[in-house]
Amino acid sequence: MNFSVSLVAPLELQTPCLVLPVWSEDALPAAATAYDEKLGGLLAEIVASDGFSAGVGETRVVYASGENAPRLVLLGLGKRDNFSLDRFRKALVKAARAVRAIKKSSFALALPSVDTAGLEPLVQSAAEAIELGLMQFNDFKRGEHFEIEAVTLLLDASADADAAQTAIERAGVLCRANARARALVNQPSNIKTPASIAAAAVEVATETGLRIEVWDEQKIQDEKMGALWGVGMGSDHPPRFIVMEYMPPGTENDAPVALVGKGMSFDTGGYSIKTSGGMEEMKDDMAGAAVVIAAMSALKDLNVKKRVLGVVASAENMISGNAQRPGDIVTARDGTTIEVLNTDAEGRLILADALTWTSEQKPELIVDFATLTGAIGVALGQEGAGLFSNDDGLSRNLEEAGLETGEKLWRFPLWEEYDDYMKGSASDLKNISAADRRAGSIAAAIFLRHFVPKNTPWAHLDIAAVSHVRDSRLLTERGATGFGVRLILDFLST
Ligand code: BES
Ligand code: ZN
Ligand code: ZN
Repeated sequence: MNFSVSLVAPLELQTPCLVLPVWSEDALPAAATAYDEKLGGLLAEIVASDGFSAGVGETRVVYASGENAPRLVLLGLGKRDNFSLDRFRKALVKAARAVRAIKKSSFALALPSVDTAGLEPLVQSAAEAIELGLMQFNDFKRGEHFEIEAVTLLLDASADADAAQTAIERAGVLCRANARARALVNQPSNIKTPASIAAAAVEVATETGLRIEVWDEQKIQDEKMGALWGVGMGSDHPPRFIVMEYMPPGTENDAPVALVGKGMSFDTGGYSIKTSGGMEEMKDDMAGAAVVIAAMSALKDLNVKKRVLGVVASAENMISGNAQRPGDIVTARDGTTIEVLNTDAEGRLILADALTWTSEQKPELIVDFATLTGAIGVALGQEGAGLFSNDDGLSRNLEEAGLETGEKLWRFPLWEEYDDYMKGSASDLKNISAADRRAGSIAAAIFLRHFVPKNTPWAHLDIAAVSHVRDSRLLTERGATGFGVRLILDFLST
């Protein structure tokens, strides 16, 4: 989508459709007032007596045939005092879809003025919401799909158009990264394999000049990644271990920030097989890997100043004559023995080896992304992801980034009372908890923590419930959300 800025007065701008934001309990803003006067008080009348209350995201199409903007869309922003960038983004998604519904291939938005938000965050949020909110996964649907091609952001005559343009470019980078994650997650698993996920990482590395290394199944075994191999060995699509590195000039001697992603290209559950209802959703079990690969793709464009490692463990959890059995005992890279009591708790197994390898690189901190537990959705629904960490400062920074981007995190405790949950009897660890289903997401995090040194700041984001949506929600129409991409890029650039 092409975004541009204009300082033209709203009445003068020729556009098929003009979106006019309106506050509830407030007079019409200047742009709407101008049109209201031109239309003999029609807009004020709609607000006063046609049941338009300007709640967040409420829209109303108004016909203004013959005017420079023959269609207007009134867009509710709610109460001015309650303004947040998050609500603003939600509202704009609705406006953009209202324009698409009346088949206008371009529109303009009269950007509201807000005391509590600067021009750049406002422009960036608008562009992100419109771009992401309109994105649709139609790769496998034949036929024409109507798409909005151009959006003009209308600013006050006195506004800094250059600053707005910069914000638009930043939004573009973030949206392209988010779209890359969505595209990978949306791929069905007859197309998506550990090797194809590695190929996607190679593509990113080639495009943006990152160092990349891909280990095949032989190297994975030679490197003693017994937990990753145990999960992957049952599939005809063998596992891959992927390392990407971004090292801007002057950071050669810095400890890297490490991002780690769970990359199950499909998760049947293995011999602890899942029930068939909903199993198709397990194509998204590599959403953590997608976040990592997508985030790596944007570091250069965002001019991130830190050295960043992107690590992905990828496998397919299948059933075959070579597949892992319940009760198998595997030896992870760090020597830990693990009794695999449930082959469906495979994410923590592949992450164990990924976290061990990552810790060996002596990173400054580690953030892992994983569609790890169904239990996280029971706890939080789809309103946010679970955060588990051994470090208060890192947690706060991630939480703040999430509030900024609208990808909310909620921190769970890792109290010492949980310490024994994953202790093994015949082995050092077992992969399911002694407490059965209780505190399932915490138990998984306790397992992961075993593979990170105590003094390495580490955070685990359980994105199982937020990585895709069945029906339109927030900035996603249907399918993968790319949850975490904008969050971690915000975290890395501040
Ligand atoms: N990939 C799943 C978690 C998941 C569930 C992701 C629902 C997205 C939606 C994971 O590998 C898994 O199967 N976890 C088990 C763990 C259990 C066996 C301890 C779960 O959550 O049921
Ligand atoms: Zn599983
Ligand atoms: Zn899984």
